[in-house]
Amino acid sequence: MALRRLLFDGDETLRKRSKEVTVFDDKLNILLDDMRETMEHANGVGLAAPQIGILRRVVVIDVGDGVIELINPVISNEKGCQKRLEGCLSVPGKWGYVKRPEKLTVKAQNRFGEEVEYSGSDLFAVAVSHEVDHLNGELFIDKAYEMVEEEQE
Ligand code: CO
Repeated sequence: MALRRLLFDGDETLRKRSKEVTVFDDKLNILLDDMRETMEHANGVGLAAPQIGILRRVVVIDVGDGVIELINPVISNEKGCQKRLEGCLSVPGKWGYVKRPEKLTVKAQNRFGEEVEYSGSDLFAVAVSHEVDHLNGELFIDKAYEMVEEEQE
């Protein structure tokens, strides 16, 4: 495994739409392993492939229950609304309040190409929504209705 270099806001790659994954091979396994290591090293709760310059629909998330790998994720069953302070590894030093669904379901594929489905609420729902936005070239600062200077509890 290897750490990958993170891209930061201002890099146009972060603004592009990522492409579907169609080949489930060793290269994808290496990408997922590296994304996991890079996320953990940066103490992130999620990382999307475009954040390391790979325009593919690949996401890793860890909200404290272990790492989940989502390939070609599609969100459904969004319910409710929560407002939570968010940050992003690609937008260092900034935090903002964003409206996200309280609950959602995400269907995706795992690294073997098998269909997987997860449902969750709270931080999980925020993380999935935030990371899928990355795959569409969107950053949380586009959606934040209030930015704050420092991270707050
Ligand atoms: Co982010």
